[in-house]
Amino acid sequence: MRLELSEQDLTKLVPEFYARVRADPVLGPIFDGAIDDWDEHIEKLQAFWSSVMLTSGRYKGQPMVAHLRHEGAMSAANFDRWLALWQKTTGDILDPDNAAALQAKAARIAESLQLGVQFQSER
Ligand code: HEM
Repeated sequence: MRLELSEQDLTKLVPEFYARVRADPVLGPIFDGAIDDWDEHIEKLQAFWSSVMLTSGRYKGQPMVAHLRHEGAMSAANFDRWLALWQKTTGDILDPDNAAALQAKAARIAESLQLGVQFQSER
């Protein structure tokens, strides 16, 4: 089925996801300890997802480098928790096809971030 995800969907999804992240007892303190300007973070993540899903090219950054700064928080359990919350939030907010596409993409990116962090920490 054709993907009809829009910028508007991301404008709803991303702030709601990070509101839930902040309310999460495990992920909340990690993010609140790392992020000073939440408006900027949400803006950046909307650009990220827009680049990934809509190939808008709006995001210019290095996710791997950003996560290496927080290596201690990048455990398999935390990735599972992040992905479970992403799954729930996308499912609550978007139609099933768009939610499924975002879930599959996040799982692949999470896997590569996790491998990257593991690889760096073993060097
Ligand atoms: C940024 C934590 C998983 C995408 C960040 C930052 C933190 C963080 C603390 C802010 C970094 C900084 O500026 O110092 C986590 C944790 C995760 C996780 C604890 C799971 C264990 C993911 C996943 C994705 C993702 C699965 C993508 C699917 C991003 C992006 C940024 C970011 C795009 C912005 C990077 C930049 O500054 O350009 N994350 N993250 N994160 N995260 Fe995650």
